[in-house]
Amino acid sequence: MDFNESLELRKKDAESILNDYLPDVDGYQEQVLDAMNYSVNAGGKRLRPLLMKECYKLFGGRSKVIEPFMAAIEMIHNYSLVHDDLPAMDNDDFRRGKPTNHKVYGEGTAILAGDALLTLAFETMTRQKGVTAEAVVSVVKEMSIAAGSNGMVGGQSIDLESEDHAIDMDTLRRMHLGKTGALFRAAIRSGAILAGASEAQLSALTRYADAFGLAFQITDDILDVTGDEAAIGKPIGSDAKNHKSTYVTLTSLERAQELAASAVQEAMDALRDFGAEAEFLRELVSYLLKRKS
Ligand code: IPE
Ligand code: IPE
Ligand code: MG
Ligand code: MG
Ligand code: MG
Repeated sequence: MDFNESLELRKKDAESILNDYLPDVDGYQEQVLDAMNYSVNAGGKRLRPLLMKECYKLFGGRSKVIEPFMAAIEMIHNYSLVHDDLPAMDNDDFRRGKPTNHKVYGEGTAILAGDALLTLAFETMTRQKGVTAEAVVSVVKEMSIAAGSNGMVGGQSIDLESEDHAIDMDTLRRMHLGKTGALFRAAIRSGAILAGASEAQLSALTRYADAFGLAFQITDDILDVTGDEAAIGKPIGSDAKNHKSTYVTLTSLERAQELAASAVQEAMDALRDFGAEAEFLRELVSYLLKRKS
């Protein structure tokens, strides 16, 4: 099976698991439930849940225990996108080829749908059978640190503060590791923790995750300039429109490409003590340099 087929298979698997945990659109609060489902069902690459499962399998995890956690990380990711697109943030009208949440449901409902997806993620993680309370607590801790002011929200805050003026490279790196790296880190570490990885294995995977997150956001910045709108499903030029600080605006397209390649190399190095069982993780990070969406 080639890489594209393996990726597609894992994406389909993540999607069917996610479906089991989405709320029914039923009840007096139908509007917000519908808005939550709209964004999660709009598509997406499902990289975070599929990475979580891959890292779970890497250390021998074979049960369904991972599934609610996979659904949870994708809910948190989708909440971050719904809020990221709001007029008060990036003010974007399209995501995954469809109108953004606030364009369909209005800003108020989009804010609530984001809030409810974040909260549902944590509820979902407690709906557990076959896993110890300690394991649930460690993963909830990973997810809450990643989602909050020391993770994704922290990175998004630096992003907002960095509009209209240049920032130094260290701040840019922190912003990327926060707004994008943190959820990848939580996905990868949570999978490994649930399968009982050792501290040494966890630290190798954490290194992989941070490099993956950095490479992912640098290539997102590149695609914001060079991408094909139909392929990426979101407006190109969003960063320029908002006067954002990105790897492309603060360096150059060529330098951003070099830095993405060196982050990919760093991720590959982090996996050097793993064998063939980590091949998909190697292929996935290498694919970031070629991705079109
Ligand atoms: C988009 O993430 C937001 C960033 C962190 C750059 P993805 O590119 O993973 O979005 P989907 O889920 O595939 O649409
Ligand atoms: C946002 O980064 C990362 C999130 C936490 C949502 P971007 O603003 O660059 O993401 P896109 O390009 O809108 O997907
Ligand atoms: Mg943004
Ligand atoms: Mg955005
Ligand atoms: Mg972007």
